[in-house]
Amino acid sequence: MKNKYGALASWVYHVDKPIGRSFGDVEFYLSRLKDSHGPILEPAVGNGRFLIPLLEAGYTVHGFDASSHMLKVCKKELSERNLTDNISRQTFKDFCYNEKFSAVVLPAGSIQLIQSPSACLEFIQGLKRCLAPCGKIIVDIDSLSCLYDSSAEARRWDLGKDLLTLTETRIQTSYLHQTTISQLRYEHWNLDGLVSSELEIFMLRFWGIYEFKNMLREAGFKEISITLDYKHPFSEDNNDVASAQIITFEASS
Ligand SMILES: C[S@@+](CC[C@H](N)C(=O)[O-])C[C@H]1O[C@@H](n2cnc3c(N)ncnc32)[C@H](O)[C@@H]1O
Repeated sequence: MKNKYGALASWVYHVDKPIGRSFGDVEFYLSRLKDSHGPILEPAVGNGRFLIPLLEAGYTVHGFDASSHMLKVCKKELSERNLTDNISRQTFKDFCYNEKFSAVVLPAGSIQLIQSPSACLEFIQGLKRCLAPCGKIIVDIDSLSCLYDSSAEARRWDLGKDLLTLTETRIQTSYLHQTTISQLRYEHWNLDGLVSSELEIFMLRFWGIYEFKNMLREAGFKEISITLDYKHPFSEDNNDVASAQIITFEASS
């Protein structure tokens, strides 16, 4: 199975990106949510890195995720803080809510885990149906430059008695489909040797700015604004920000 975020992958994610770790996204999204007064939905909530700061800021936030391992981590963090647990196991394809949300937030490029443009459009349309009138979506994608960057990467997290490692190797890049496939090998070591390993096939789709904006329009969103690296407004003639890595779309329903 692809993009499964198994037990080791979830442990590594939590060590590397603990609750509240911000890439600029937590502060940016919070500033954009100031006028949102109803509940908020975070699809692909993961370990709660982003969800928990929103809850601590006083918002009611619901979340879902396909990975039971990620949800287990998130539920533990919520319970340790006595925060309301509104998270469930659902997927981009089959999620379902009765309530209407004032905002949907999708940081960390999670939407790129959907490889097919038509499946992505259906997902966005589904999110739009969950929004209250005047609700908004805020969603991040990575720059197209990540499609090109394919250097192998080895990382390690020394936890004292335990050592976690991750070796990432790109196995396919399709410039035609704007997709990448990488092989992620997670390992858990201790003083006795290798404890466990996990192999994950990780697939992403990359989007051009105008392509993604058009998809939001096709899904029925209006008043779409774009921010680069959580700082600079995007405009067609601004070349100073050509090296931006994170593109954030904010659109109203
Ligand atoms: C990059 S993490 C993002 C976690 C969190 N939103 C954050 O900002 O730190 C991506 C998450 O997407 C989840 N995911 C992957 N495929 C999914 C799917 N088809 N439906 C729902 N969640 C999915 C993974 O389990 C993982 O927790």
